[in-house]
Amino acid sequence: MPTDVANTKELKRLTNEALNYTGPRGILAAIVDELVGILESVSGFRVDQEQSLTEGETVCDDGLAISPAQAACCAGEYQRTAFFLRGAHSAIMQALVANPGGVVRVLYAGSGPYATLAVPLMTIFPPEKVKFTILDLHPESIQSVRAIVSELGLECSVESYVVTDACKYTIPPRGLPDILLCETMSTALEKEPQVGITRHLLGQAPDAIMVPESVRIEAFLVNTSDEPDMIIPESEDPSGCRQPNRISLGPVFELSKAAIRYWAPTETHRLPGQSIRLPLIPEPSYRPFLFTTINTHGEHVLLTHDCNLTGIREIMEIDPVAAGDSYQFSYQLGQNPRLVAEASGSHAPGSRTD
Ligand SMILES: C[S@@+](CC[C@H](N)C(=O)[O-])C[C@H]1O[C@@H](n2cnc3c(N)ncnc32)[C@H](O)[C@@H]1O
Repeated sequence: MPTDVANTKELKRLTNEALNYTGPRGILAAIVDELVGILESVSGFRVDQEQSLTEGETVCDDGLAISPAQAACCAGEYQRTAFFLRGAHSAIMQALVANPGGVVRVLYAGSGPYATLAVPLMTIFPPEKVKFTILDLHPESIQSVRAIVSELGLECSVESYVVTDACKYTIPPRGLPDILLCETMSTALEKEPQVGITRHLLGQAPDAIMVPESVRIEAFLVNTSDEPDMIIPESEDPSGCRQPNRISLGPVFELSKAAIRYWAPTETHRLPGQSIRLPLIPEPSYRPFLFTTINTHGEHVLLTHDCNLTGIREIMEIDPVAAGDSYQFSYQLGQNPRLVAEASGSHAPGSRTD
C-alpha cells in the first residue's frame, strides 16, 4: 500500500501535465516545480544552502560525477526535465509496441537523488509493463531514491538499485535493458561522462533505445556585437530573427547509436569528430562557438538556450580571422572529457595545404 497516496496521485497528475502541456513556458516551469517539490518533500534529501554545490562531487575515469546536491538542482531545470521525461515516455511507448505483452526494462544511469526522469513515469506505467534499474555513483543519491520510491508505494516498479560507476558496470545478461536513460552531461558534452557511460552501456545492450537519442554539436561564427545579451531560447524564436548573422561552420560531433557503432570499441583516448573550414568573416566581432542540440527521443528536441545543457560555448583554440584554415575536431576521453579542435590545414591564398 502506498504510504503517501495523495502525493502519488498528485505526482501522476503533474507528470501527465509535464508530458502534455503545450502552452507558455512559465506554466510548464510551475508544473515541473511542483513535481520536483513532491520528490524533494518525500525524499528527505535537502540541498544544504550553507554547503558548496561541488562538495561531494567525484572525479571518475570518464568524467566528473557532480555532487548529489548539484544533481538535485538539475531537476528544477524545467525545460530539460520536461523534455527528457517526454523523450523517456516516447521511448517506453515505442518499446511497449515492439514487445507487446512483455516487460520493458529501463536502465537509468546517473539518477541523482530524485531519479527525476524515472519516478514520475513509474506513476504512469504499471510495474507489470515497465521496470526500472536505478544506478548512481553516489550512495546518498540511491538512498534518497529508495526513500522516494518507498514513500510513494512504487517499489514494484524498481527491479534493482545499483551504487557503482556506470562506466564499470556489467549489466546482468539476463536483464538487458530495452532503454538506456542517462543525463550525465553538461554543455557541449564537456566534463561529465555522458559519452563514456552511453558508450560503455550500449556496448552491452546494442539493441537498447537511447534516451537521449542523439546529442549533436555544431560550430557557428557568432557576431558577438549583434547577438542579444538576453538569452532567447531558439524554440521561442523559430524564424531566427533574434539570432542575427550567425554563420554555420557545420556539425563537429554527434553522440548517437550510429556514432557509437562507428567508433572503435577499443579507443580510449580520442573519438573522431568532423572538420570545419573558416570562411572570410565580415567583421572582427565574429567569434566561433559550439552549439548543442539534444533529441531526447522522437519529436522531443532541446534547442539552443532551451536549457543549460544547450547553452553555447566559445571555441578558444580557433582564430576566426584566419579565413581558409581548417580545424579537425575530436572528443578527448578521460577524467576531463571535451571536444578539442586542432588546426589541420590552410587554404588561404598564398598558403600551402598540409
Ligand atoms: C547531471 S546529474 C542528473 C541527475 C538526474 N539524471 C536528472 O536528470 O535529474 C548526473 C548524475 O549522474 C551521476 N553520475 C555521474 N557520473 C556517473 C558515473 N560514472 N556512474 C554513475 N553515476 C554517475 C551523478 O552522481 C549525478 O547524480
